[in-house]
Amino acid sequence: MSKKLTIGLFGFGVVGQGLHDIIKTKNLNIEIKKIAIKNPDKARSLPADLFTTDRNEILNDPEINTVVELINDTEAAFQIVSTALKSGKSVVSASKKMLALHLQELIDLQHEHNVSLLYEGSVCGSIPIIRNLEEYYDNELLHSVSGIFNGSSNYILSKGSIEGLDYDTALKQAQDLGFAETDPTSDVGGYDAKYKLVIAAAHAYGVVVNPDEVFNFGIQTLAPQDLQYAREKRWKIKLVPVVKELDDEHVTLFVLPKFVTDTEFLYNVEYEYNGVTVQAAFADQQFFFGKGAGGHPTGSAVLSDIAALRYDYAYEYKKARNAQGLNFTNDVELNIYLRYDDEALVEALGFKHIHERFYSDNFKFVCGKINLQKLIEQKQRISDSKAFIAFADQLTGVSLASAN
Ligand code: HSE
Repeated sequence: MSKKLTIGLFGFGVVGQGLHDIIKTKNLNIEIKKIAIKNPDKARSLPADLFTTDRNEILNDPEINTVVELINDTEAAFQIVSTALKSGKSVVSASKKMLALHLQELIDLQHEHNVSLLYEGSVCGSIPIIRNLEEYYDNELLHSVSGIFNGSSNYILSKGSIEGLDYDTALKQAQDLGFAETDPTSDVGGYDAKYKLVIAAAHAYGVVVNPDEVFNFGIQTLAPQDLQYAREKRWKIKLVPVVKELDDEHVTLFVLPKFVTDTEFLYNVEYEYNGVTVQAAFADQQFFFGKGAGGHPTGSAVLSDIAALRYDYAYEYKKARNAQGLNFTNDVELNIYLRYDDEALVEALGFKHIHERFYSDNFKFVCGKINLQKLIEQKQRISDSKAFIAFADQLTGVSLASAN
């Protein structure tokens, strides 16, 4: 028999409203008792007495046994989630940045207070990847997890390559549709994808990595020459986060634009859709596909977590607890395409095994191997000089090679 959940909801934006729309179509023994909002003057579609601007009305209400946190403010989200967990309430959250920045603390709080924090909606919207990594791939040897984890940047790339729409107009559309973050740099700079990657890596490999240590580079400096180069090879450019096991002791994580061939699942993932490719030793390659942003798709994942709480479901973090002995490293060599103007940048990056190079007046590029640590060192210089980099593992047939 499922237990009754009395919910205090934080946030009534795109996802909060999407969740509310879905909940009312079901009879799940769930009641939303109060909704905490920031702006009391905004017109709401629900009775005014359901709303409050005082978070304590929810956090101090003993009848509320479940908190659903769907707000934009990272620090406020952490305060709300940690306070709720400490007071014995179960929590569902979709705040990927907050979760990625505070993951270890939040895992500890769950164990300490014997409560559950679920966050399927924080990674790839409607795609059920966290519970699958946690439960289904419990005994599998996972070689890598990668994909398209950010709907807004993928929407911009699709609008550009399929419809010829310019970057700013496509970004504006992604914002109007409610896909983009308040600060869209998070989407187009690969930060949002990185937070999601860090969360996924904890469930795939049991490693909890500080997002600040993970390299991310986005699509802001993508130029027509890069698209032309990709088109000539019949490739597409996608923004791809990767977590990969390098050997028995090391995993690497990074977010980079990637040239994707038509033999890869990600090739046909367009607009706000997301995709996750899992490469496993025994199952081989598997692919998850679905909408990665938007109120109803993300709301559906949040509702799935809420429904799971009726049966006291909690992540066990088995892989972390069994201490698989994996350590995070940036000491790895990647095949990188660099489009540049500044010759000194090529020198500074220390390319090895250059296998393609081209110069003309308005287009210079080089492809070869670079240690990820060099990219980290030179990240600012790459951005400042409006150069563009992409991960190009198909160029040599080699994926990742640990420099160890
Ligand atoms: N800004 C995010 C995206 C929303 O575009 O994917 C969903 O997490």
